[in-house]
Amino acid sequence: RIAGPSVLVMFGVTGDLARKKLMPAVYDLANRGLLPPGFAFVGFARRDWEDQDFAEVVGEAVRQHARTPFREEVWQQLLSGIRFVQGEFTDDEAFARLKATLDDLDRTQGTGGNHAFYLSVPPKFFDVVLEQLKHHGMADQQHGWKRVIIEKPFGHDLASAKQLEKVVSASFTEDQVFRIDHYLGKETVQNLLALRFANTMFEPLWNNNFISHVQITMAEDIGIGGRAGYYDGVGAARDVIQNHLLQLFALTAMEEPTGMGASVLRAEKEKVLEAASATRKFDLHTARGIYAGGWSGGELVKGYLEEDGIPETSTTETYAAIRVDVHNRRWAGVPFYLRTGKRMPSRVTEVALQFKTLPFVPFNAHDTATLGGNSLVLRIQPEEGVTLRFGAKVPGTQMEVRDVNMDFDYGSSFTESSPEAYERLILDVLLGDPPLFPRSKEVEESWRILDPVLDYWEGTGTQPETYRPGTWGPKSARDMLARDGFTWRRP
Ligand code: BG6
Repeated sequence: RIAGPSVLVMFGVTGDLARKKLMPAVYDLANRGLLPPGFAFVGFARRDWEDQDFAEVVGEAVRQHARTPFREEVWQQLLSGIRFVQGEFTDDEAFARLKATLDDLDRTQGTGGNHAFYLSVPPKFFDVVLEQLKHHGMADQQHGWKRVIIEKPFGHDLASAKQLEKVVSASFTEDQVFRIDHYLGKETVQNLLALRFANTMFEPLWNNNFISHVQITMAEDIGIGGRAGYYDGVGAARDVIQNHLLQLFALTAMEEPTGMGASVLRAEKEKVLEAASATRKFDLHTARGIYAGGWSGGELVKGYLEEDGIPETSTTETYAAIRVDVHNRRWAGVPFYLRTGKRMPSRVTEVALQFKTLPFVPFNAHDTATLGGNSLVLRIQPEEGVTLRFGAKVPGTQMEVRDVNMDFDYGSSFTESSPEAYERLILDVLLGDPPLFPRSKEVEESWRILDPVLDYWEGTGTQPETYRPGTWGPKSARDMLARDGFTWRRP
């Protein structure tokens, strides 16, 4: 799977994401031999740069953040296709210059009118950029394909997401639009499909006959860093649950698709999202928190309200947990708990299926004190793999049973290295391969699930409960599960 001759145009090249993830991903693709010799990379920004200045910025980002080793010949090859166009998004002439640059590249690099436009910019600029592209004939597919890549946040709620879709669809058709949720680019997330549908033994148990509940966790030990401007007013639920966690949920809960093609795969995800809703009693079945300052991992850290650029009256949550119920035959009665937080004890993402406890245990109670339900844990990151937890006899003269782990680790089972999520996704865009990109319907269904919770939280007019940094979130999160008779896992 090698991309054909094409140009990747990037708006928002001065942002953090572009520097840390996107530019290195382009280089890594080139280094792995997945980009054709004619590939070109164009940056568009306000900075007063020449091609040379932009190339230096890309070079530095690559040297600092690429996953593969720096190789001069690969870099020189990439360099020959690097261009920069200076301008404001509202500047007609700048877009005319962009068009001229693309025409020139098509002639000199042989890119054949195949252009992908990556909008790594805040959504408020989507409409002006997309309109300019259309107005200057850059959405037109008469010669070569034209694709547009957009990044979350896809709106702030259901209404604004729909509005955003209107803007996008005014300039590009649905098959030209690639919405990035970088979690779908992760190997371990795609492995959810392999685990479920390439094996005999899991799927028969994957339902309410055997599963008691599911916990989907994405924890980070970092705070908000320098992202106050983006994060405040957004919060943990919009930042992560609306996209990454509901995608993990959809892949875990969906029915088997008839194939791995984009339309059937996305249709199954949409179907299960449609069948899902956040549990109604939001005061009992949700939790939100805000990290306080204090010692965490040997470091004295600021509380969220003391971070630079955060007003002390902010009601933005840095921890969020919700319960999702699925109204279908497979999952009725099985709660899915989704949680995420900053300043947790460690960085870990996992999907844990907790099996029901046994109806009868033929051992003496005192011998089985630690015997719990079985669990299957898909370790998304950082220790990629799968863990099956079950009871085993403790060696000795008594019949004592204790829970043990059986582990599969990517690192020790495969010699192949994983591409970074953005590498995989950028390559798929250039190849025109859409299964790993959510459709607008998925985005809207996710907002439909989350909106009532957000409204409820906002309606309380209160600040979220604080939690100490380096802990697993506020007390209300523990209470929320205890009410259902469960406890959160400590991954
Ligand atoms: C982003 C969120 O989508 O995902 C960030 O905006 C978060 O807040 C990041 O830190 C985590 O991504 P990853 O791949 O490091 O788990």
